[in-house]
Amino acid sequence: MGMQISPSVLNSDLSNLAAEVRRVQGAADWIHLDVMDNHFVPNLTFGLPVIESLLKHIDVPADCHLMIADPDRWAPGFAEAGAGSVTFHVEAANKPRMVAKDIRAAGARAGVAVKPGTSIAQVSDLLPVIDMILVMTVEPGFGGQSFMAEMLPKIREARRLVDGSDVDVWIQVDGGIGPDTIEQCAAAGADVFVAGSAVYRAADPAVMVEQLRASAENAARP
Ligand code: DX5
Ligand code: ZN
Repeated sequence: MGMQISPSVLNSDLSNLAAEVRRVQGAADWIHLDVMDNHFVPNLTFGLPVIESLLKHIDVPADCHLMIADPDRWAPGFAEAGAGSVTFHVEAANKPRMVAKDIRAAGARAGVAVKPGTSIAQVSDLLPVIDMILVMTVEPGFGGQSFMAEMLPKIREARRLVDGSDVDVWIQVDGGIGPDTIEQCAAAGADVFVAGSAVYRAADPAVMVEQLRASAENAARP
């Protein structure tokens, strides 16, 4: 798998979700959908009913990022609804291993996310049951924040962990990713890049997606 770009619609026109997704269709590998519940993070976006409706109108696979409490209860429903990937926060899960297994059993790729203050050691024993580690490069909750360069060692650590194991686990970064920061993340070992404001504030979001992927591929070349 090469470098993948997953635009986040968080800072797009949320009243026009399907149309906003279509602006990156054909260029984006995934569409990143930030589910927030006002408990795990201090913001509230959309949930399963909105995503179920959206999925009927788009062809880009859904990359659901659940910033919610009790993913043990809610995460499998997003997979059952047809999301291609469902990522939950390890800090919020009661039994992370079980959540990942339930997501996979419902037919989606399972991702586990770590907030900036959470170490990679918290997810290392989950490697056999997950398909992706999401290293947050901002505090989750809002789009448009500045990239935290101090997360680069954590991305490197995740890359070492995955490469040292007999697993095929992607490493996603999310928060403040754009033309100025994507190369450092790719060089550190990330291979799936979420970009919200960088994509949706661009004159042509699809062109920006292609530019970001080219930058990532360039930076990752040994
Ligand atoms: C933040 C979300 C991100 C956000 C990224 O909590 O998880 O996905 O939309 O937005 P930018 O790219 O603007 O930082
Ligand atoms: Zn996100």
